[in-house]
Amino acid sequence: MDKFLIKGGKELRGTVAVSGAKNSALPVMAAALLTADKVVVRNVPKVRDLVTMSKLLAFMDAKVTANAIPASDYEIQAPRLNHAEASYELVKTMRASILTLGPLMARVGAARVSLPGGCAIGARPVDLHLKALEQMGAEIATSHGYIEAKVHGNGSRGRRLRGAHIVFEKITVTGTENILMAAALADGETVLENAAREPEVTDLIVMLRKMGAEICGDGTSTLRIHGVKELHGTEHTVIPDRIEAGTFLVAGAITGGDLTITNCEPKHLGAVIAKLQQAGARIDIVDATTIRVRGAEKLVAADVTTEEYPGFATDMQAQYMVLATQAEGTSLITETIFENRFMHASEMMRMGANISIEGHTATVPSDLRASAGLVLAGLVATGETLIDRVYHIDRGYEGIVEKLKAVGADIERVHAGT
Ligand code: EPU
Repeated sequence: MDKFLIKGGKELRGTVAVSGAKNSALPVMAAALLTADKVVVRNVPKVRDLVTMSKLLAFMDAKVTANAIPASDYEIQAPRLNHAEASYELVKTMRASILTLGPLMARVGAARVSLPGGCAIGARPVDLHLKALEQMGAEIATSHGYIEAKVHGNGSRGRRLRGAHIVFEKITVTGTENILMAAALADGETVLENAAREPEVTDLIVMLRKMGAEICGDGTSTLRIHGVKELHGTEHTVIPDRIEAGTFLVAGAITGGDLTITNCEPKHLGAVIAKLQQAGARIDIVDATTIRVRGAEKLVAADVTTEEYPGFATDMQAQYMVLATQAEGTSLITETIFENRFMHASEMMRMGANISIEGHTATVPSDLRASAGLVLAGLVATGETLIDRVYHIDRGYEGIVEKLKAVGADIERVHAGT
């Protein structure tokens, strides 16, 4: 397994471009299953989770075409879906495989998807996805670790889901996305209350609408979807990754220097920008796609509580924790989305407590945002930090070593076996 070797203490200066949003590209690629026509998806980040998604779609008999995988542009066409199944082998490496459940149920009225197990950050059940699909007429059983779902024929329209009034007990991002995709081809109207308002959900709605879906309420917690008979092909460019942009914002704020972040969407970063400014970072919105961050003379403590969008993202919590370790005063960081998302804290404590010791080795727990937090910690730590098992960061950050090196970081990838 590859490692990162980082020599801390370098100021980051220069320009870094943000890739497409992983958590937007995943549902957008899955939505290609909803039509027999060709769908073109652009600005896909070249990260492992998207390669996994492309394999999943290909297994279902969708034709997935790209120049070289990983790619930033994919053409997907699924005239027939002969294997409406997401295997344990793929789901265990990527929980977001569950995003194929909604489209499969809508398109073929049957699906067999491995149940994602718990993961490092919490139990992460999918009960709300399943309950909502049941309300839409699906019969769901779980057997041998698989979700087995089907819709019985309902009259002349065949195996179609039907619209329903769904109130999510808890806000769920992929749950909202699954139900949006399922409802787009259902009979009648679905009203989804307490829906997630994340920009990635809105990006999916924009794409579905281009495919012919009738959806209103984007960006609010009540979505209305009027099911249509068929969806057609489209082209869609994925929005910029707000978590990658936020990670670079923290990198700039904690290492000093002067970093310009391009290809990003400042309006998706409101809570992060406000918090970093409160902590003393100098941040300027240069234009609609560019942000400049300069380190503070002195960082000061600022408390953070993670929340659903538009609040402070849980996916930025580990990175913010590094900033808090550099700030004067005590910051309280409260995680409200996942029950077990503090594993990085003990590794950072080890790094802080031994700040004068070089050659520190950090063991990376299996949460890709925690890994990003540890990379940031390595950038400000005195001496060397070796981050082992960087598999998780490769799942979600495109070219992070190259991007950080280009702006002055001393970071190397150490390949397994070297
Ligand atoms: N929840 C339930 N039942 C459900 C669904 C969710 O109890 O049926 C709970 C979860 O256990 C959690 C909370 O609701 O406590 C919110 O979970 P949510 O469903 O919103 O998370 P998700 O859809 O599985 C997405 C992102 C995560 C991000 C969270 C929260 C994707 C592919 N993943 O996960 O991203 O942390 O929303 O914003 O969109 C990452 O990129 O590193 C990552 C983990």
